[in-house]
Amino acid sequence: MTLVDELKELLQKDPRLNSNGSILKNKVTELALKLDRELLKLLLSNSRVRQHFFKEIEGVLIFDKDKFVKFINNKEFLPGSYTAFKNKIGLANENGQYLAQSKEVILVWPYKDCILEGGQEKPDEKRKEIFHNVILAPDEIDRLLEPKVFTNFKRIDSSGEHPLEGFRRDPEINRKRGLPEDTITDNLIIKGNNLLVLYSLLKEFKGKVKLIYIDPPYNTGNDEFQYNDNFRHSTWLTFMKNRLEVAKEFLSEDGSIWINIDDNELAYLQILLDEIMGRDNYICLVTVKRSASTGHKSINPGPVNTVDYILGYAKNKKKWKYNCQYVVREYDKAYSLFIENYEEGPDKWSFISIHKALENYRCSIDELIEKYSERIIRFAEPDYTGVGKETRKLIDISKKYPNKVFIQKRNGFPDIYLKNGKRILFYKDKIKKINNKIVTIEALTNIWSDIPFQGIAKEGGVVLKKGKKPEKLLKRIIEMSTNVNDIVMDFFMGTGTTCAVAHKMGRQYIGVEQLDYEENSAIVRLKNVINGDQTGISKEIGWVGGGDFVYMELMKLNETVVEKIEKAETTKELLGIWEEISYNGFLSYRVDSKLFSENIKEFKILSLHEQKKILLELLDYNNLYVSYSEIDDSIYNIDEKIKVLNKELYMKRS
Ligand SMILES: C[S@@+](CC[C@H](N)C(=O)[O-])C[C@H]1O[C@@H](n2cnc3c(N)ncnc32)[C@H](O)[C@@H]1O
Repeated sequence: MTLVDELKELLQKDPRLNSNGSILKNKVTELALKLDRELLKLLLSNSRVRQHFFKEIEGVLIFDKDKFVKFINNKEFLPGSYTAFKNKIGLANENGQYLAQSKEVILVWPYKDCILEGGQEKPDEKRKEIFHNVILAPDEIDRLLEPKVFTNFKRIDSSGEHPLEGFRRDPEINRKRGLPEDTITDNLIIKGNNLLVLYSLLKEFKGKVKLIYIDPPYNTGNDEFQYNDNFRHSTWLTFMKNRLEVAKEFLSEDGSIWINIDDNELAYLQILLDEIMGRDNYICLVTVKRSASTGHKSINPGPVNTVDYILGYAKNKKKWKYNCQYVVREYDKAYSLFIENYEEGPDKWSFISIHKALENYRCSIDELIEKYSERIIRFAEPDYTGVGKETRKLIDISKKYPNKVFIQKRNGFPDIYLKNGKRILFYKDKIKKINNKIVTIEALTNIWSDIPFQGIAKEGGVVLKKGKKPEKLLKRIIEMSTNVNDIVMDFFMGTGTTCAVAHKMGRQYIGVEQLDYEENSAIVRLKNVINGDQTGISKEIGWVGGGDFVYMELMKLNETVVEKIEKAETTKELLGIWEEISYNGFLSYRVDSKLFSENIKEFKILSLHEQKKILLELLDYNNLYVSYSEIDDSIYNIDEKIKVLNKELYMKRS
C-alpha cells in the first residue's frame, strides 16, 4: 500500500472529510491549517503517516502542516478533488455547520457564451457552461476583499465621454439628504466582480444607501441566460450570502433592500435574509405577474408558473418609511348608491341606485365618477377593532335614528359619516388624477399584476433576453422607499434598468455589472437616458433628458488569465497559460510548480474540461485585481492620473 492509499484510507474514517466516497480536499486543508485536534489524532494513529508528517524534537511531536497540505493537494489527490470544491453547504452542511458560519467566498465569472464541454460528441447534447465559479476556503482568502484599484475613469454627459477630472461632492445635496457634506454625489457605473467592488466602495458609502434593489441570477439551471445562472444550490446560497452581508453595511438606518427572485431559491433566500437582515426587519414578499399562461410549454407538472417574487427587508424596520403607493383599478361596483340630493345636506340625504343615477344623468359610469364622485357611496360595517369610544357611542346612537346621517368631526383625520350603525364611504376618496384623467385607485397590495412585462424588449434601447425588468417595476420600488437625491444601488445591474429609472427620477445611483454587454450595456442605455430616451417611464414622468454619470472599472491583474483559461480551445494553449501563471507568480501558495511540470504527461491525458478545472484551481485568487494598498508599486506601472483619482476615492475616509 502506498502512503497515498494509506492516508486516503485514514481520512475516510472521519465523516467530516468525505462526501459520496470522495475526500473533501478543501476541508482537509482547512482543518490541517487550523491544527484540528481530531484530524491530528487521526493522523497520529497511523505510524507511517505519523512518521511522514510529524517531526520529533526533544520528545515533542511537531506537525509539518505545509508538507501535509502540499501532499494532499498534489496530483494524486486531484482526481478526487473535484468533489472537494463541491462542499455540501446548503443551509447547514453535512457536518451540521450552518451557512451563516461558513467563511467561504464564492467568486464568479458570468460568461456571455456557453462553451462546449470537452468530450461532447453529439451536436444535440445539451450545451453546458464550464466551471466559472470558484469556492475559496478561508485560508485562501487573504487580500481578496481589500479595496481595489479602479481604472478607465470617464465622465459621460450629453456631449459625450470626457476624462474624469474628479468626483463631485456637492455639500448642498448632501445637507438636503442628511449625509456628510463630502459624500460623493456622482452617479457611478462600475464594471467588475460585484463582491470586490462592494468591498472597495464600502468606506465611501457605508450607511448611506437608501435603497438596494438586486435581480441576481435565479439559479434556474437554465443555460439560455447569457450570464452564469447555473450554480449548485449551496454554491448559489454562499454566493448570495457573501454579497448580502456586505450589502447590508451600505444601507442607511432607514434604508431597505429588495431582491427579485423566482421560486427556485425563494424559500432559501428568505431564510438567508432572515439571518442576515434579522427576521424583525422583514417588510414583505411581493408576487409579480411576469407572464400569461398562454404560450407556456408544460415542462413542469402542475399549474403554470407565471410569477416572480420580490423580497423586501429593512435595515431597521422601525425607521423605514413607506411612501404610500396606489394602483389604478376598474370602477368598484361595491359603491352602488348615489346621493340624490347632496346639496340639501347630510340630514336630508336620500339614496338611489347607481343605475338610476346613470339613467337620470344619461352618462357613463366614468363620467358620473368624474363629475359626482362625492355622491357615489357605499355602506360598510365599521371596523370595531380600531374605533375610539366616541365613535362607538355615535354608532349606537345612529342605530336608534336609522334615517339620519351622523358626522363625527376629527382633528387631522377625515370625518366619519354614519347611518343606521354603518359607515358611509365616498367614491371621492378612491380616485386620483393621472395624466389629466380621473381614475379609480386602491392601495398597492403585495400582488403586482398591473405591470406589463411584454413589450419591454426595447426599453432604454438595449436588449437582454429574459433577464431585463420593466422600468415601471423599478419606478414603483424606487418611489416606495426613496425620495429625490437618495442613493439607490444595484450590484447585479444587467442592462441598467434600476440606474436608468433612478436617473429619470432624480435619485443618485451606483450600478455594478461584471459583463460587457457592448451595444446593450448600461452605459449605452444611460447615454440614451441623458439624451432624452422616451421609452419606459419617460412619458409618464415627463422625462426630457440631462444629467451625467461617472464610469470606472476594476483594474484587472489575474482575471484576464481566468478569461484566457475559459476560452482556451486546446491543451497547448492551456500549457502556454500555465507557463504564464507560474512565471507571473499567480499561483496559489499550495501549488508546487515543479510537481506540475514533472507530471505534465498525466495532465495531457485529462479532458480539456478537467485541465481547465485544474488550472483554475491552481490560481491565487487574491491576485485577481490590483489592491489599492499596492497602487504605488512600480511593477503595476499605474498612470499618475489614475493614482490621483483612486486616492481621491479612498483618502477621504481612511
Ligand atoms: C438578471 S440580470 C439583471 C438584469 C437587470 N435587472 C436588468 O433589468 O437589466 C443579473 C445580472 O447580474 C450579473 N452578475 C452575475 N454575477 C455577477 C457578479 N459576480 N458580479 C457582477 N455582476 C454579476 C449578470 O452578468 C447579469 O447581468
